[in-house]
Amino acid sequence: MSTGTGGNRDGFTSKFGIVAAAAGSAIGLGNIWRFPYVVGESGGGAFLLVYLSFVLLLGIPVMLSEFIIGRKAKRNTFGAFREIAPKTWWPIIGVMGIVAAFVILAFYSTIAGWTLHYVYLSFSNGFQGRDTAELTHMFELFQTSTFLPLFWQLIFITLTAAIILSGVKKGIEKYSKILMPFLLLLLITLSIRSVTLPGSFEGLVFLFKPDFGKLDSGVILGALGQAFFSLSIGMGALITYSSYFPDRTNLSNTAFEVSVADVIIAILAGIAIFPAMFSIGMLPEQGGAGLIFMVLPNVFLQIPGGYFISIAFFILLAIAALTSSISIMEVVVAFLTEEFNIKRKYATLVTAVSAAFVGLFCTLSWGAFKGITIGGKNIFDTLDFAASNILLPLGGLLIVVFVGWYMRNSDVKDEMSNNGLFKLRIYFIFRFLIRFIAPVAIAIIFLNAIGILRT
Ligand code: TRP
Repeated sequence: MSTGTGGNRDGFTSKFGIVAAAAGSAIGLGNIWRFPYVVGESGGGAFLLVYLSFVLLLGIPVMLSEFIIGRKAKRNTFGAFREIAPKTWWPIIGVMGIVAAFVILAFYSTIAGWTLHYVYLSFSNGFQGRDTAELTHMFELFQTSTFLPLFWQLIFITLTAAIILSGVKKGIEKYSKILMPFLLLLLITLSIRSVTLPGSFEGLVFLFKPDFGKLDSGVILGALGQAFFSLSIGMGALITYSSYFPDRTNLSNTAFEVSVADVIIAILAGIAIFPAMFSIGMLPEQGGAGLIFMVLPNVFLQIPGGYFISIAFFILLAIAALTSSISIMEVVVAFLTEEFNIKRKYATLVTAVSAAFVGLFCTLSWGAFKGITIGGKNIFDTLDFAASNILLPLGGLLIVVFVGWYMRNSDVKDEMSNNGLFKLRIYFIFRFLIRFIAPVAIAIIFLNAIGILRT
């Protein structure tokens, strides 16, 4: 059990457990569901290039900063800032993180619920004998209905809560480490089928050939948001996780390995989707949030053993979503248990019920509540935008400023070198990035996008 303070907190055990848990948090719907449709709406190759540079120059430094804060303080996100910077305003980052966690959990569970429904459809052979138009129609009927999507969302939130309840070591580590290699294998299989479909080459061109005319400040902010969302950074999920890391973990290597794994999975998802999409004559910007659910069944139908592959794929995707959602829920639960001394059981219950309540509005965004829009965006898109493109980058900005300008240099060095155990090879690059490049870059991207949003 993860309780109150210091000494008896739970922790991750093996080296693979640590990387797997952090990678489990990063790899999820963000890579496989969100990445392809955002790329599709943002014009393809140029977006990909910007996204990759953001991961490298901003994402990895923010992730490492979160690791440094979390393992130094060994507290939940809010408590960590209070521990390192008592009597200051810095813990406000923690508060923003809790808000972001709720918002993300709400809309994340919508899509995770869709994934569970598609597990069911795969089992019941629901794609068989349907053409592209019918598969799209089937998805849209489901998406705009009331009972089924809510039902699956509730199941997903309950599953997340159940894992959270079983505690850190037994829960997270056990579930994270076994299954992700299988997901990788399946994505490779799907990618191979996708690029061998007739007319698929255009999809690769779309994904990899940059057309810089497509870039504007909104697209660039979108790339930033996608990078942060996919890497699980900017709201303290990785501060919370790294608070459970043992002292011997090499934080820089872990940040690098997790980010590389995350990017590889996203690009593979892109290769699985876009060629197939062009092959069935769908335009990249057409899919929206339903993209993978409309396109992938077409691929399953054209692959030997597609019945089994579709079952395995959606199950693994649901599990990838679970290992991510537990890292989101854990932020809130660790906060409630450590700061208010609430029992883990009740903290989990309160979090799950509130997330389900907000989640209900997200899930009904295409159906019962589709009339409610803000600036042309439905509730789901609004919350996704607010969390991914505003709260996470803002949180990331404050986090790097905190580590770069506020924290004691010696503490940062100690965490990065495990108290002098290994050489600080990347220290100066890292310090330069978090003090100057990352804050300035994020600020500029924001200001630009706000300027555009106003016109
Ligand atoms: N990164 C996860 C994904 O790609 C989602 C996620 C988990 C997340 N924890 C997070 C996103 C913290 C933002 C912040 O699916």
